[in-house]
Amino acid sequence: MKQYVDDIDNALNQFIVAKHTDQQIVVDAMKYSIQAGGKRIRPTLTLEFCRAFGGEMKKAFPFAAAVEMIHCYSLIHDDLPCMDDDDMRRGKPSCHIQFGEANALLAGDALLTLAFHTITNSPKTHGADANSALKAAVLLSENAGINGLIGGQVIDLESEGKVIREATLERLHELKTGALISAACGLGAIAANASPEKLQMAKDFGVYLGLAFQIIDDILDVTGDETTLGKPIGSDDSNQKTTYVTLYGLDKSKQIAEEYSKKAIQVLSDIDDNRFLLTLTEKLLNRNY
Ligand code: IPE
Ligand code: IPE
Ligand code: MG
Ligand code: MG
Ligand code: MG
Repeated sequence: MKQYVDDIDNALNQFIVAKHTDQQIVVDAMKYSIQAGGKRIRPTLTLEFCRAFGGEMKKAFPFAAAVEMIHCYSLIHDDLPCMDDDDMRRGKPSCHIQFGEANALLAGDALLTLAFHTITNSPKTHGADANSALKAAVLLSENAGINGLIGGQVIDLESEGKVIREATLERLHELKTGALISAACGLGAIAANASPEKLQMAKDFGVYLGLAFQIIDDILDVTGDETTLGKPIGSDDSNQKTTYVTLYGLDKSKQIAEEYSKKAIQVLSDIDDNRFLLTLTEKLLNRNY
């Protein structure tokens, strides 16, 4: 895991380059947010699926960097006053607190754009084959867009102050968090030129892992420690969100997260070299950060 995180940090540094100095403020904002750390779960999944499916790691780096760029942009925008209005992220003042709202908005936009540049340019920079790069761009755009992450964020915001049904909440979590985690896994399979069956396995694993991941995020918003988490606790309550905790309570929420983790692990049983992914799934279920 540590090696993956170092590799991801290096790859990200390599991709964020400005040609001119007059837009430096937004480049600084992009770097500020993306270099602030974070668990790097999504790019780790991309690299690990590529490895587990026998791919050439070099080809997975641009895809891994791209998925982290999308994630990081989504966090910058998620923290804005018009969304969750959170002042801390990854243990530091949120991007808009440090650089102002307009620059935070632009830094998010620029990271989103850079993600697709990084993928489509990867045949040139990393010897990825053009067909893989195309498939990767299609998968990531589907999962980051209105039928994925953005779709989930829309339901999340529209649901504030309302009580929503269990099925709507599951859908919300599947879209806002499951979709990008699923894409991260799928990108690793695409980098490895894996069969359609293996690609589907990776994507299915990601959806279940993503659901468990967001339920634990809901739990930590209540039980977590702000310093350890690096972001404010109680954000969901102050925004009147319906979460797994508000609908089911803490114990039942943990139980549901366990069930999704089990489903994720079942998908892994068809993958020979699954030790890293098994351990990661367990670790994420029991995390406090
Ligand atoms: C936070 O994601 C947003 C959610 C989808 C729950 P992470 O918990 O992966 O955030 P970082 O990348 O570690 O900061
Ligand atoms: C975030 O969900 C999902 C995103 C797409 C960013 P949250 O709003 O619960 O994430 P945190 O708790 O702010 O990290
Ligand atoms: Mg949010
Ligand atoms: Mg938030
Ligand atoms: Mg949260």
